[in-house]
Amino acid sequence: MMPAIGLPLDRVDGRRKVTGDAKYAAEHNLENVAYGALVMSTIAAGTIKSIDDTAAKKSTGVIAVISHLNAPKLNKPKQGTLRENDLIPFADGSIHYVGQRIAVVVADTLEHAIRGAELVKVSYNETPARIDIQQFRNEAVDRAKSAFSKGDAATAFASAPVKIDQVYRTPYEHHNPMEAHGVTAAWAGDHLTLYDSSQNIFGAQNAMAQLFAIPKENVHVMSQFVGGAFGSKGGVWPHVIVAAVAAREVQRPVKLVVTRKQLFFGNGHRPETEQRVALGANPDGKLVALIHEGMSQANDVSDYAERFVRPTLAIYAVDNMRAVNPVVSLNLPSPTYMRAPGECPGMFAIESAMDELAYAVKMDPVQLRLVNYADVNPENGKPWSSKSLKQCYEQAGQRFGWAQRNPEPRSMRKGRDLIGWGMASATYPAHRAPTSARAMMKSDGTVTVSCGTHEMGMGTATVMSQLAAETLGIPVERVRFEYGDTALPQAPISAGSLTAASVGTAVFEVANALKKKIADVDGVDPASITADSYHAILSKHYLSEVEARVDSKPPQEEPYAGQSHGAHFVEVAIDDEIPVVRVQRIVSAFAGGRILNEKTARSQYFGGIIQGLGMALLEETHLDKHLGTYTNVNFAEYMVPTNADVRSIEIILVPEEDAHVNPIGVKGIGEIGIVGVAPAIANAVFHATGKRVRHLPITIEKLM
Ligand code: MOS
Repeated sequence: MMPAIGLPLDRVDGRRKVTGDAKYAAEHNLENVAYGALVMSTIAAGTIKSIDDTAAKKSTGVIAVISHLNAPKLNKPKQGTLRENDLIPFADGSIHYVGQRIAVVVADTLEHAIRGAELVKVSYNETPARIDIQQFRNEAVDRAKSAFSKGDAATAFASAPVKIDQVYRTPYEHHNPMEAHGVTAAWAGDHLTLYDSSQNIFGAQNAMAQLFAIPKENVHVMSQFVGGAFGSKGGVWPHVIVAAVAAREVQRPVKLVVTRKQLFFGNGHRPETEQRVALGANPDGKLVALIHEGMSQANDVSDYAERFVRPTLAIYAVDNMRAVNPVVSLNLPSPTYMRAPGECPGMFAIESAMDELAYAVKMDPVQLRLVNYADVNPENGKPWSSKSLKQCYEQAGQRFGWAQRNPEPRSMRKGRDLIGWGMASATYPAHRAPTSARAMMKSDGTVTVSCGTHEMGMGTATVMSQLAAETLGIPVERVRFEYGDTALPQAPISAGSLTAASVGTAVFEVANALKKKIADVDGVDPASITADSYHAILSKHYLSEVEARVDSKPPQEEPYAGQSHGAHFVEVAIDDEIPVVRVQRIVSAFAGGRILNEKTARSQYFGGIIQGLGMALLEETHLDKHLGTYTNVNFAEYMVPTNADVRSIEIILVPEEDAHVNPIGVKGIGEIGIVGVAPAIANAVFHATGKRVRHLPITIEKLM
């Protein structure tokens, strides 16, 4: 036994990243590469009347101007293949939102391409646009078929002795990874190669094959390093298709990088939500009714719906529940999943309402949550595969010093500052998707494990090496993990916090299969294999290598409900006269099943919590309700937390063994860190000031 799993090993690719050796999608400088610059629509609805590209074409270095006027017709892929399934770039002159990609200028240099794009003159036939969600609220439809009901929530709420009935709002937000989306596309005959900043390379491969009517094998997608994604690089967005079209038209490789401004319009966002939460309770805090409904933004060219009621069905035991999350279709860019979609905005509403209920029944907020603790999954009554939320409350609360809290708002002070303590719960489902993997042992005892998964900074390559090493019983240094290439065995999209569970299970299974195969060669029991056995067996049998392959699939029926849990405790300090909110301390505890690497796990939780801090206090994409455009499309005005905003954050990893969720007991931790942070901060702000802010972000003017 050679322990590796769980150890806080450094990232295997850390050195390459800090030395600049790691190559991102736009850093592949292929020979004879040309550069693409996007032209975006400036209206929200209508059609293109004309495109005047005379000046652009004459501009220095410009090779081509491509739009619906001259682009080749592409096939329409099957539903669900593209993020915007009903908006094939350059298919026609219809405009569905501001920022739509309507043309691309290809030139010999980036500067020439940008200059050319500036010279393209577009005129439009404009039609009235649907922009403000409030104006169309009566047209909300339950596109995701999210409606859930048990018992009789309306009647139970009407007769409940204690009632909370409030509306909570979350704004438009953009993922804003440090690395903006980029792609390099190159054709050789009818073979396409893409270096894509992607968290879903097989999705991109499938989409390109369908669009260009070529076999999947002709499409080679690589994504070695991704500088953050948070969901924004999961869908196949128009710029990827545009780059492939451009490369084919000019018969040269084309590099296309979305600018920070352009990123705000065609690469997804978290849509605005409005959520009503109605809680009915007995005076002892026991919930008797829970209603969660509202709306979020969507559009007609994509099918995304923000499922903010998902956590509602998983967090508290209540007999009467009604939940639904309809969408309102507008002339705005397509929303998509952004770190903990559904759970993150949904828990802001639920956990804020629970804090309001705690005050209404004069009960400690942790105690209120324990009174309503769900011992089985509230949605379907299934037992949990494991659940350690109580331990999360206990351990984080104790470490924080929660028992010292005076529940009275405005009762705690430090100098000029009002001090507020708040808490909230976190929850996120454990997913797993089919994954294939290969492992090849050489006679020197080193092994290469291969799976076409992704690395957006989570630590995939590191934890997979650890898993393979321990399973085979060899030192981690003898394992190399290959990923980020569609030439490798197929992996699912890296989203929904499923990579560790899905790829991890496949790696675990393929390592076991390899070990058994090698043991069989020598007719010995796999249990007798040690680190030294491999070289000995392979040389004894004159084998230069042995390879194993698995197609790992989750079971059809899951008898257990798998869910990660957590709890955040937050201290804010707010100047009594100029109410700037400073988050002084966050203590969070998480139970996410088995932890594969303590260091990368903490890093995931830190990242989630800090992004949650941004959601609570800073992040908002401002919508111009007349023009349908966003006004703060840069890092100066779209604010994310900086080091100065981040003070003390302590993370407790609650040990949790899970024998049911999957063979490696991993639940997934990539998204749960952000869930519950915003309501914990909002609850602390209420405790400090007596002001309940139900509309994120909690800016200074909302506290004046
Ligand atoms: Mo995540 S929003 O599932 O990349």
